[in-house]
Amino acid sequence: MELLKNTLHIGLERPLTLLHVTDSHIARVDERDNERKHALAGRFDSSNREQLFREQLAYAKAHCDLMVHTGDLIDFTSQANFEFARTILSEEKVFFAAGNHEFSHYLGEAYEDRAYKMNSFREMLPEGLGVPLFFHSRIVGGVNFVAIDDSYHQFEAWQITRLKKELAKGLPIILCLHVPLFERSLYEYHVERSGPGTSCYLAGCEEDDLPVDEWRAIEIRPRGATMEAIDFIKSQPLIKAVLAGHIHFSFESELAPGLPQFITGGGYDGIARELTIL
Ligand SMILES: [Fe+2]
Ligand SMILES: [Fe+2]
Repeated sequence: MELLKNTLHIGLERPLTLLHVTDSHIARVDERDNERKHALAGRFDSSNREQLFREQLAYAKAHCDLMVHTGDLIDFTSQANFEFARTILSEEKVFFAAGNHEFSHYLGEAYEDRAYKMNSFREMLPEGLGVPLFFHSRIVGGVNFVAIDDSYHQFEAWQITRLKKELAKGLPIILCLHVPLFERSLYEYHVERSGPGTSCYLAGCEEDDLPVDEWRAIEIRPRGATMEAIDFIKSQPLIKAVLAGHIHFSFESELAPGLPQFITGGGYDGIARELTIL
């Protein structure tokens, strides 16, 4: 396990430690799945990924107050993956923000919108994954962990209404997202790393030169309540940090003065981040 370490000072009476893990991309299939799903699962060795995940979970249980998983726990929809996710998410120490792959039938097959997501969600019924997937909060050690589903690079107005209710509790908030929020230095690093012609996988990315695929452009360009939501998040002093994943590399920067965004690389690569909050 490659462990990154950070400290965040927010004036807690007692320190709180969390392990941030994201993008595990577990791929379980069995006899209930078709050949196409088996081929998807055959792209890599899921048992290795599961072993890394187990190590991360064991570390969190032994050394941390909470494991925050920011999505893409599974790589695609399958009953075996849902069963795995339900078992993990029923762990007391795990707090979860859903990613796009929780709702992915097949890789990059279609324009992913609310209808696509709801179709996948129906496959999870009646239990879902056992935890709320679109908005969720939990208070641990005087800190309010709030998970908002921005897995398709967008926010919806109702999520901000809910966030305002969380803010009214008056506690410091750690915001847990799947898709990172646009920030200039992150964007430039993302472009440099990904090379020309790659889509910008950040929420609130209004740059003209990316992304190149037309359908991706429609999907990723901020619309609806997205920019308003991001501006609102950046303006709230009670929001002390943003945790995110999705882009499969680690990066730290400030979204606004005093508001760090911690992006952690792929859990499938064995990367995890220990954040000590003081
Ligand atoms: Fe991912
Ligand atoms: Fe993702």
